[in-house]
Amino acid sequence: ISVTWIGSDGNRTTADVPLGHSLMEAAVYNSIPGVIGDCGGALACATCHVVVEETPVPLEEKSGTEADMLDFAEAPAEPSSRLSCQIRAARELDGIVLRVPTVSA
Ligand code: FES
Repeated sequence: ISVTWIGSDGNRTTADVPLGHSLMEAAVYNSIPGVIGDCGGALACATCHVVVEETPVPLEEKSGTEADMLDFAEAPAEPSSRLSCQIRAARELDGIVLRVPTVSA
C-alpha cells in the first residue's frame, strides 16, 4: 500500500509498504526523520509516535497501553496521535498520510 510520511524535517516521503508490515518498521526502513522505533514495536518507547493526518478509513481504536505510552512521547500527543508500531499495513489504509510531530523548543 502507499504510505506517505511528513517527516520531522517537513519533507514528504511516499513509499510502498507490504501488507502486514508495521508502519514503524516501514518508516525506519525508509529513513523517515523522527521515527526511531527504539523498542522494536514492543509498545515500550513511544519513539514511533505519528499523527494521522489523513486516512481512508478510521483506524482501529488504540489499546490502553498505547494511550498510556503516548503520554511518554517526546512530542505532546495530539487527538489523532498513534504509535506507528501498532498500525499494520492493510489494504484499506492505502494512501494513509502520517506526520511525525516535532518537539517544540
Ligand atoms: Fe516502541 Fe512503538 S516502537 S512503542
